[in-house]
Amino acid sequence: MAEFDVIILGAGPGGYVSAIRCAQLGLKTAVVEGRETLGGTCLNVGCIPSKALLNATHHLHEVHENFEQMGLMGSKTTVDWAKMLDYKQDVVNGNTKGIEFLFKKNNVTWLKGWGSIPASGQVKVGDEVHTAKNIVIATGSEASSLPGVTVDEKTVITSTGALTLPAIPKSMVVIGAGVIGLEMGSVYARLGTAVTVVEYLDAITPGMDGEVAKTFQKILTKQGLKFVLGAAVQKVDAGKKGAKVTYKLRKDDSEVTVDADVVLVATGRKPYTAGLGLEALGVEMLPRGQIKTDDHFQTNIKGLYAIGDAITGPMLAHKAEDEGMAVAEIMAGKHGHVNYSVIPGVIYTSPEVASVGATEEQLKETGRAYKVGKFPFMGNARAKAVFQADGFVKLLADAATDRILGAHIIGPGAGDLIHEVCVAMEFGASAQDLALICHAHPTYSEAVREAALACGDGAIHA
Ligand code: NAI
Repeated sequence: MAEFDVIILGAGPGGYVSAIRCAQLGLKTAVVEGRETLGGTCLNVGCIPSKALLNATHHLHEVHENFEQMGLMGSKTTVDWAKMLDYKQDVVNGNTKGIEFLFKKNNVTWLKGWGSIPASGQVKVGDEVHTAKNIVIATGSEASSLPGVTVDEKTVITSTGALTLPAIPKSMVVIGAGVIGLEMGSVYARLGTAVTVVEYLDAITPGMDGEVAKTFQKILTKQGLKFVLGAAVQKVDAGKKGAKVTYKLRKDDSEVTVDADVVLVATGRKPYTAGLGLEALGVEMLPRGQIKTDDHFQTNIKGLYAIGDAITGPMLAHKAEDEGMAVAEIMAGKHGHVNYSVIPGVIYTSPEVASVGATEEQLKETGRAYKVGKFPFMGNARAKAVFQADGFVKLLADAATDRILGAHIIGPGAGDLIHEVCVAMEFGASAQDLALICHAHPTYSEAVREAALACGDGAIHA
């Protein structure tokens, strides 16, 4: 048994970042983690391994689609799947070891095992009970399936199974055109799998700016993904080899059954809080399974905090990280704060898709007068040079004050470009402020400036 200032349950991006900040602020800190390696879902079976596979298959796509045009000739590149999976695992291992190093450097104790909270101020790991002035729940989320669908991680898989398939399937049905479905669907489509995405709604990527979603769907269709929209999956029957997916088309209630070697269920995630003992403790929960917290991340029990996917808000690693740092500051007696109106979202396909702030649909709904500055990458020399001129930058600004309200980018490096707008929004900048900043030529960033110019007197290259 040991005594700590803070014990954090879970070493994902929320938990490990919070632990490092707690230690930096002088708090004696421990993290409970039952996985063999640190980093949680994101590092072990989520964001990071999927980015490795997206990177490898992006290059494959480039070889097949664009190399000849650039005068790069040669024998055909083939895929060694086992080697690609090794590369992915090496990337994961490097990062998880990196966190172990950071824990040692910052004097964060790793309590290995699965933890529970038997009483306020206590955390049980194995047979040992440790005490802490404050406890933070950062246990993340798990894939949520559908009624009539049983996941076996072989034929019917979640994103976890999609990272370790024994072979590249010939066909795959992806249920859900959200972030996971499209990222992993892209990976397999580029590897030659016939990918069909079945989505309940009439558009892909719910919540995304409608114009971006439409362009995104067109680009992905060109890349070989097939979409069935307005279709509710009813059941999946897994056989000895492959599975049958039955969906109902919402427009006429007709039922369709399709075969696939593998079915990826990507219909969202739910908070993972099982086994913590929250019910016995009397922790207040929200109807959708999240832990209820106040605006200081504290639950209804004093000294018990929760952050990340286990509470409300977007289920994003960087949102959890920000909350992790903020809660550390609060526990150390400082002022932790997260600006929820400036949290970027990125989909790491090719092209990337990124957004921050309000969508046009949201602004219409609130009745706020706004203006749109749009610039196509077709007018950006750098994007054209690398065959990535399909997308655009769309900036939304207040009609009266010119203050930037949101940005939506589909195009090369969108996930990095968006941060320029995030900084501008944090500082309450106007579109003109952005437009007046000198941007290096030739860069993709010029497209952001051009979109800002388009909010005023007009873009130059459009
Ligand atoms: P999601 O919430 O993004 O998308 C789920 C999709 O499934 C929705 O479009 C929904 O309409 C559809 N759906 C639900 N029931 C259906 C049914 N019966 N038939 C057909 N379609 C149905 O969930 P996803 O992609 O599983 O991702 C989970 C979480 O992980 C998200 O919160 C996401 O933000 C996060 N994530 C973020 C990443 C990133 O930031 N790049 C990468 C991967 C995950």
